[in-house]
Amino acid sequence: MSRTIDFLGQSAPIQELKHLAIQVAQTEATVLITGETGSGKEVLSRFIHANSKRAHRNFIPVNCGAIPAGILESELFGHEKGAFTGALQSRKGYFESADKGTIFLDEIGEMPLETQVKLLRVIETGEYQKVGSSETMYTDTRLIAATNRNLQQAVTEKSFREDLFYRLRSVELHIPPLRERGQDILILAEYFITRFEQQHGLSFEGFTNDASEILLRYSWPGNIRELKNLIESLLILEEGKQITSEILEKHLVQRNRDKGLVHDPERSEKNELNLIYNSLIQLHHEINEIRRLLIQREQNENAERKQPLLLPPPVTEPQPGTAPAHSPTENEQSDTAIMTLEELEKKTIADTLERCRGNKRRTAALLGINERTLYRKIGKYGLGDNDRVQSPGS
Ligand SMILES: Nc1ncnc2c1ncn2[C@@H]1O[C@H](COP(=O)(O)OP(=O)(O)O)[C@@H](O)[C@H]1O
Ligand SMILES: [Mg+2]
Repeated sequence: MSRTIDFLGQSAPIQELKHLAIQVAQTEATVLITGETGSGKEVLSRFIHANSKRAHRNFIPVNCGAIPAGILESELFGHEKGAFTGALQSRKGYFESADKGTIFLDEIGEMPLETQVKLLRVIETGEYQKVGSSETMYTDTRLIAATNRNLQQAVTEKSFREDLFYRLRSVELHIPPLRERGQDILILAEYFITRFEQQHGLSFEGFTNDASEILLRYSWPGNIRELKNLIESLLILEEGKQITSEILEKHLVQRNRDKGLVHDPERSEKNELNLIYNSLIQLHHEINEIRRLLIQREQNENAERKQPLLLPPPVTEPQPGTAPAHSPTENEQSDTAIMTLEELEKKTIADTLERCRGNKRRTAALLGINERTLYRKIGKYGLGDNDRVQSPGS
């Protein structure tokens, strides 16, 4: 999978930002990327990596905000067998896997203070220790960090170390929010339309002028991520139509209401019930979607491979950003038919975790949920490393 990384946008601030990013990419400098959520911090960090001397080595993205504080340190630095209850195997940390490559620490403002101390040491000297080990390890990793929080304020509030802050801030790149990027909104909308048309095999008649005006005026609190999700749902739910301002407004209001962004003074118990009901429908929809994707994946793989279905999956180390292979057996598929939604969700998560060899980030990405939700569900269903559920028949 070698999709070229581009950081789309023609507006003046983005052109300047790209220019700076390419310059910085040639150096080994630690970079801090700031910007609102969904503004493209991860995309920019991939762009920097892709334009650096390390481009052919690993790029490892880590969302510090999604990984529970107690686990983050062992995820980053690895641990020895027996380092803590449940550490049945020793484990490589991300800094070991990212050696000679780049590590991207998203939501760095959420990192616990004790971990910040260790991070500063690894940035300055390349040295670290695995959890439960006294052996000093060495890594040659380039660090790119990102935050949507005001780190200066976090320093004042003593939740972020001042020394680390200054170390990170030596090169700071700021991504402006989408609402300040003018015509980029339409360029990105076009790009997502083309992409989702291909992906879903649907076609789209574009926006009326009024609707384009709304796209340009809207505040985009969720930035590019919000635009992308909006385009995808318009394409699916309003298939074949030209999007008028009425249709667009309906979707924007609905999305914001779901997120609680539109204040509803008459919110009553009935509204709460509606919300729960909507979430259930949403969940049902997501599970069906997961199912559809798994089946589609199997079909694609079969078509590509033309090999018997029951061959064991290849035992290669999963690479970040690539989807794992899995072929549900007939049994697994017919099982799902008589399961409750909860059982189906649990099984889907357990199977996906197993396929991703416990890699939570890839599991979450594959399931289309965020990592925090994944961790919550792992807890809820008891799918932690200790009590990983065996799939039926295994
Ligand atoms: N400049 C861009 N060009 C194309 N897609 C983008 C761009 N910026 C963001 N995206 C898309 O928007 C979504 C959010 O981007 P991401 O980098 O995860 O944002 P952040 O890390 O700031 O929350 C992703 O799906 C990404 O692919
Ligand atoms: Mg992000």
